[in-house]
Amino acid sequence: MPQIQWTRELEIGIGVIDGQHRRIVDYINTLDASESEADRATVARVLGDLIDYTYSHFAFEEALMEEAGYEYLSVHQKTHQAFVARVNALKQRFDDGENVAADVAELLRTWLISHIMSDDNSYAPIVREKMPRIESKEQGGWLGRMVRRFFAG
Ligand SMILES: [Fe+2]
Repeated sequence: MPQIQWTRELEIGIGVIDGQHRRIVDYINTLDASESEADRATVARVLGDLIDYTYSHFAFEEALMEEAGYEYLSVHQKTHQAFVARVNALKQRFDDGENVAADVAELLRTWLISHIMSDDNSYAPIVREKMPRIESKEQGGWLGRMVRRFFAG
């Protein structure tokens, strides 16, 4: 399968979030490359990274939406929880010995389009409006604090 390229259509215009979202494209490309040889070690690594990533990234995004006063935070959180449940179900199938590489890649492809290009785009305007200096150090160090809290270690 051809490699997916990150494009501007996938960006929501908040650099720190776009940087985190790019990892989803990396995971898809890694899984697609591993699929043919059913490389369990690679799939195990991607699943482990994905579980860590969703935990940190979703907590980060939710803190950002809360800080900006985004009114649909609880709906968005439910979507995150549903995604985590799907990833955990795939991890369970993997642990039971199945090759789930194609299914994980498919879940991530759908996620890019249905969540990142749609749900995440809908919180971006209020974050940009309420936190215009989020990417500079002037936002009271908020960004640095949150990155350290959720991504440290
Ligand atoms: Fe999200």
